[in-house]
Amino acid sequence: MEKLSGKKINTAVFISGRGSNLNSLIKHNKKKNSIFSIILVVSSNPNAKGIIYAKRSKIKTYISDFKNKNISEKKILKKMFNYEVKLICLAGFMKVLSKNFIKKFKNPILNIHPSLLPKYKGLNTHKRIIKNKEKYSGSTVHIVSSKLDSGKIILQQRIKISKFDNEKTLEKKILKLEHGLYFKAIKKFLISL
Ligand code: GRF
Repeated sequence: MEKLSGKKINTAVFISGRGSNLNSLIKHNKKKNSIFSIILVVSSNPNAKGIIYAKRSKIKTYISDFKNKNISEKKILKKMFNYEVKLICLAGFMKVLSKNFIKKFKNPILNIHPSLLPKYKGLNTHKRIIKNKEKYSGSTVHIVSSKLDSGKIILQQRIKISKFDNEKTLEKKILKLEHGLYFKAIKKFLISL
């Protein structure tokens, strides 16, 4: 990966649904001092609400349904090269990228996961956390490796779970936290290169 050279890092954000993290990254991106630039949004779902945020800000979008993972990944990789993407940020992207994709892309891929990794990898995090009566939860931004939710942690933020919290309230609190966390983590990561 090239070092920061005063030029904003070409970034693609991958989504599958609501896209609230994408929206917060786009908002941050509009600030002058942002060191990365979102130039492409890839969605695995043609009906993802998040696509609206990209369109509204005139960011190019690319839909890939992943019906054939191999073909979809090949096409996405081609896009990444054509757009000279140097960083991919997964934000609620519900597909697991293959080892081959990660290797061929060559540049870093980051992900945001709504738990204090390494605890609670995978899906239904909030549900499991509430069920286990955990006292704390949070969110983690990490580098994507070939193992699910397992790469090096870049930044993590913790919140206390109240006894009145349920799956929905916890999700809401964590989303709010994530909207402040993701861009900070990206910045920290890029500066460290
Ligand atoms: C976030 O909680 C993120 O941590 C997880 O999926 C959720 C995506 O939410 N990977 P949104 O689509 O960004 O609103």
